Parts: sequence; C-alpha cells; structure tokens
Amino acid sequence: MERKRILITGAAGFLGSHLCDRFIKEDYHVIAMDNLITGRLKNIEHLFELENFEFHHHDVSKFIHVSGKLDYILHFASPASPIDYLKIPIQTLKVGSLGIHHCLGLAKEKGATLMIASTSEVYGDPDVHPQPETYWGHVNPIGPRGVYDEAKRFQEAMTMAYHTYHGLDTKIVRIFNTYGPRMRLNDGRVLPAFIGQALRGEDLTIFGDGSQTRSFCYVDDLVEGIYRLLHSDYNQPVNIGNPDEISIKDFAEEIINLTGTTQKVVYKDLPVNDPQQRQPDISLAKKLLNWEPKVTRAEGLKLTYNYFKSLSKEELNEKEHYNFDKYIKS
Ligand SMILES: NC(=O)c1ccc[n+]([C@@H]2O[C@H](COP(=O)([O-])OP(=O)(O)OC[C@H]3O[C@@H](n4cnc5c(N)ncnc54)[C@H](O)[C@@H]3O)[C@@H](O)[C@H]2O)c1
Repeated sequence: MERKRILITGAAGFLGSHLCDRFIKEDYHVIAMDNLITGRLKNIEHLFELENFEFHHHDVSKFIHVSGKLDYILHFASPASPIDYLKIPIQTLKVGSLGIHHCLGLAKEKGATLMIASTSEVYGDPDVHPQPETYWGHVNPIGPRGVYDEAKRFQEAMTMAYHTYHGLDTKIVRIFNTYGPRMRLNDGRVLPAFIGQALRGEDLTIFGDGSQTRSFCYVDDLVEGIYRLLHSDYNQPVNIGNPDEISIKDFAEEIINLTGTTQKVVYKDLPVNDPQQRQPDISLAKKLLNWEPKVTRAEGLKLTYNYFKSLSKEELNEKEHYNFDKYIKS
C-alpha cells in the first residue's frame, strides 16, 4: 500500500521533532519543513538516513511548494516561548498569519487534512478556570504576549474560514504547557529554566510570589492526543493538556528534590500579563478521542531531567539562541 504523506512545519523544533518520530513510526512519508529560527537539526538528524523522511529548509511565511500528493499538513511552525516571540515579534505574527495562509492554500490544492497548533494562550489571562473550549478568552492584543496570542487567534479564525468556506478538513489543537526531551534549556519556560539552573548550580528563579499555577503535559501524551484528533472527524478546537495543576513554588520544590541541588529559590518581579492560572478542561478530548494523559509528572520529569543531563557543557551554558541574528531581518 502507498504510504500516507504528511508535511510537518516547525519539524526541527521540540514538538515538531516528536511528531516526526511518531509519524515515521506509523510508516508515513514525512516531509519536514523548518527555517531553524528556534529549532535545531540535531532534533531530527537521526531521521535523515530514512528513505521515508525528507527535510526542507524553508520559511513558511513565504510561498510553500511541495511536489506530489499530500494527505496531511501539521502547521507547527511558530516561535513558542515568551523569550522567543518577544525577540522576534514580527516573525511570530507572520508565521501565524502568512504561514497558515500558505499552508491552507497548499492543503486546498492537495486535498489534504490540515491541523494547526493552537495554544492555551488564546485564552489569555483567563477569568474562567479551568478553561473549556467554549471560553472566548481574556487577551490584551497590544500587550507583550499579544503578538503570539493574536497570531494564534487569527490562525484559528483563518483555519475555520477555510473549513466553512472551502470545505477543507481542518483540525485545531489547543496545546497547553508541554514538556519533555528536546526542549531548549534557555527558552524562558519555567520547567527547563529550573532544571537548567539546578544543573548549572544556580539559584532557581521564581517570578512573582510563586502562587501562580501551571499544568504540564508530557510530550508523548500530547503526541497521542494530536494523532487521535487528526484522525477524528471533529473540526472544532480541542484542548490537549494535563489538568494536574501545581503552583510554581511547589514545582520549584519538586525540581530541587529531583535534581538534589543545594541552591535556593530567589524571587523576581512578575512579567506583564503573565497568566495567574492555567489548567485545561479536557472533558471534550476524553469524550471525543477517549484520550487522557497517562504519564505522571514524576515519570515525565525524570525522563526530561535525564535528557538535560546528557547535554554538553556548551549546550548547558548557551544563553541566547544562536539563530536569531541571522533571521532577524527576514
Ligand atoms: N511547547 C508547548 O508547550 C506549546 C504550547 C502551546 C502551543 N505550542 C505550539 O506548538 C508549536 C511548536 O512549539 P515548540 O514548543 O515545539 O516550539 P519550538 O520553538 O521548539 O519549535 C518551533 C519550530 O518552528 C520553526 N519555525 C518558526 N518560524 C518558522 C517559519 N517562519 N518557517 C519555518 N519554520 C519556522 C522553528 O525553527 C522551530 O523549529 C508552535 O506552533 C507553538 O505555538 C507549543
């Protein structure tokens, strides 16, 4: 039987690379696309020798061409951490608007099913807790996070318009905080930040008083949810995340216990528009996809810590992402 062909944008990033692994495992032909602005070839280099894997170094905010048939497109390209999208705000807006337009055009031409990586950030700093898909959000469009949040909201609107107007088969996954191997240590997200600080022998920094909560989903659970949603006939947004909520203060304690660091916790001012609470309501995913997270935080953290421990000294001490300067003018 002929292999299914899938295009994954943002394939060299954290989630994109795990998606490549999963679809290769399912015997798809994977066409990976990335401009490497925040991603790394290292995340996918183990796939290069495979005949059912190809890599295209390309910016999806520019016109996309893929020859041959395409069954699926996963649009995951986008800077995803606050440090990234604050440094490259225009690229973030472009990949969420021009990028999705190009992907949708390609999906229409090929008759492919398209999924977008949306985010819990579409709910902004929510005044409803936990957040169900029916909640419309509480977003400051011109706040520092606006470039990301509004790009993702536009992306959802555009995707829905292609579904209703052109009858395209589209899926919207609203991803909540996800973690696991191949995250970047210095991408500004709390989990790699704490582990990185512990590994470098630095104090763990909490922004605000640490009472703000987060819920973390292990990457394998997320990928399973994405796989099921892609193969469902549901076209409305679906939350995928782990509802197991923890305060940042308690989370710092967990990391201290996990890593055995003797460093202490220090407190700094909370950034503007940092959400106080984040917790997905996953009733819909449970009902629709028979999905719920399986990996406990203790198990997932251990796997992630082992990955970070295996990094070289240079990677452990890398402060800035090295590709920004090269791409900043594009
Ligand atoms: N990780 C999370 O917890 C999380 C939560 C919600 C949503 N998401 C979404 O999932 C997707 C992947 O996030 P991630 O955590 O893997 O981030 P990441 O930064 O590791 O990966 C993003 C990838 O997209 C690539 N990219 C960015 N702009 C591009 C462009 N114009 N053309 C081609 N490639 C481009 C980057 O080089 C990188 O490889 C993003 O769309 C993000 O918004 C992630």
